Amino acid sequence: MTTIAIDGPAAAGKGTLSRLIAGAYGFHHLDTGLTYRAVAKALIDAGLPLDDESVAAHAAREIDLSGLDRATLSAHAIGDAASKIAVMPEVRRALVAAQQAFSRKAPGTVLDGRDIGTVVCPDAEVKLYVTASPEIRARRRRDEIVTGGGQADYATVLSDIERRDARDMGRTDSPLRPAADAHLIDTSTMSIETAFQAARAIIDAALE
Ligand code: DC
Repeated sequence: MTTIAIDGPAAAGKGTLSRLIAGAYGFHHLDTGLTYRAVAKALIDAGLPLDDESVAAHAAREIDLSGLDRATLSAHAIGDAASKIAVMPEVRRALVAAQQAFSRKAPGTVLDGRDIGTVVCPDAEVKLYVTASPEIRARRRRDEIVTGGGQADYATVLSDIERRDARDMGRTDSPLRPAADAHLIDTSTMSIETAFQAARAIIDAALE
């Protein structure tokens, strides 16, 4: 059984890359960001506070990984709320346990998030850290929103990304950082296809 751990900041391309890798190797894929988003959405929908750790942990223990829907969880406000509840150790404990159970599925799994190589799957056979400069990520995120028919201002998107990075990298419990044995892929000047080829070369070499 093989586990591929993929970490990196928001909008670096790790989601697309993870889906392509899972498809190419026939592995199950879990976007762990969706688990944090699902907890945040459950709290918002129920009118519950986002700053009560035991309430949020209770919601985290109820999350069903098979019911995660990217479309309904993709809203910007949900991502922002998710990064707030993601600082809570009790919430992380509940979600990490569910993610670890998922990682043991045969024939293999791809998990992407912020702490997969460092905390969730420290023994993963392959670890990738996918990143890009904040400016490039902001431009890509803005283009994505505009292509989807929405409105987005570059400066606002960039400051959102920088705020999210600071929260994800600065928290005490499981901060975003590359595992010591992670392979770095900087997608700043790469197309998704080039990044995918780079990832495949790393994975094939590691699995040989
Ligand atoms: O990748 P994303 O934007 O869907 O993640 C939403 C938030 O969830 C992110 O700001 C931090 C948190 N998160 C985390 O703390 N650990 C993970 N493994 C995945 C996401």
